[in-house]
Amino acid sequence: MPISANKLLFVQCLISCVTVAISAGHGHFSPPILPRFTDLFPHLTFNGSYSEFFGGPTKVRPSNDGSRIDLILDKSSGSGFVSKDHYYYGFFSAAIKLPPDYTAGVVVAFYMSNADVSPHTHDEIDFELLGHEKRKEWALQTNVYGNGSSTGREEKFYLWFDPTQEYHRYSILWNQHHIVFLVDNIPIREVNHSQAMSGAYPSKPMAVYSTIWDGSKWATHGGKRPVDYKYAPFQVSFTELEMDGCKWNRTMPVPLCSKNGQDDQSSSDPITGDEFVSLSQQQKVGMEQVRKSFMFYSYCEDRARFSVLPPECNERK
Ligand SMILES: *[C@@H]1O[C@H](CO)[C@@H](O)[C@H](O)[C@H]1NC(C)=O
Ligand SMILES: *[C@@H]1O[C@H](CO)[C@@H](O)[C@H](O)[C@H]1NC(C)=O
Ligand SMILES: *[C@@H]1O[C@H](CO)[C@@H](O)[C@H](O)[C@H]1NC(C)=O
Repeated sequence: MPISANKLLFVQCLISCVTVAISAGHGHFSPPILPRFTDLFPHLTFNGSYSEFFGGPTKVRPSNDGSRIDLILDKSSGSGFVSKDHYYYGFFSAAIKLPPDYTAGVVVAFYMSNADVSPHTHDEIDFELLGHEKRKEWALQTNVYGNGSSTGREEKFYLWFDPTQEYHRYSILWNQHHIVFLVDNIPIREVNHSQAMSGAYPSKPMAVYSTIWDGSKWATHGGKRPVDYKYAPFQVSFTELEMDGCKWNRTMPVPLCSKNGQDDQSSSDPITGDEFVSLSQQQKVGMEQVRKSFMFYSYCEDRARFSVLPPECNERK
């Protein structure tokens, strides 16, 4: 009896000690040095590539040269901007500086979607940053939806830095081989275009959205901490905007698209090269390091929610 009690204590300590180590661990994690995908693509400007999505000109504020865009959330509404084009595969990135101080209930999202053109069979690839009452405790949620699937495939992470102090890069690589979520060029999640994902793999052109909005009902502690507008306005800044991919020419059927205005029917993967086909060994090691230390939720481990886990969960090791 005492032995199992000790064991239990030991296990409990392990869990809480690891939790303490992680929450105290900001700044102690040395991020691995990995290839910088974000250096490979040009930075875009607001007028050239985006338009207002919601919130109006007082809340969607491009800088004079359009290289930076600030978004505001206040009591009257949030705000957002959207790419002028839809893309079929490519590389999509933004450097984001989040609002400081008390931000419980605030959601900043950088995501791709085609709900505007395919409301019943829509695809989506999401980064959602979830505010917190303590500035360093922002959480990052990633998600993928394909072809109208209603199964959320969430994975949640703490960050190894204070995301309100400086800009950090959040990037999506999406092609016929896989989807990779990267933070400061470190892969944190890979979704393979495998047989198991099949219909749930995003496979139609999507637009790129950047938004800030009120997620009071769910974002922080499951909705227990709503937005406190005493701290408004909440401002988030976006810069180093990158979208390089196959632009969808809407007059053509889906797989035909053009890069730089030129029709390219030979390939639907606009970003070519071995580094985009699969992760290097080095990148896999970096990804595992982050997942081991900072991932705190994966749908693939949620047996309370799924009596049968989605099939792709059984593919990974
Ligand atoms: C997407 O869903 C539609 C409607 O349910 C279906 O007809 C189509 O075959 C699906 N496409 C893929 C790629 O699974
Ligand atoms: C879209 O495709 C049509 C037909 O090939 C072509 O005439 C048109 O110029 C294309 N539009 C763009 C924006 O590339
Ligand atoms: C994706 O596929 C590659 C190549 O088969 C494999 O090495 C990798 O582990 C897979 N990733 C996941 C998350 O299943």
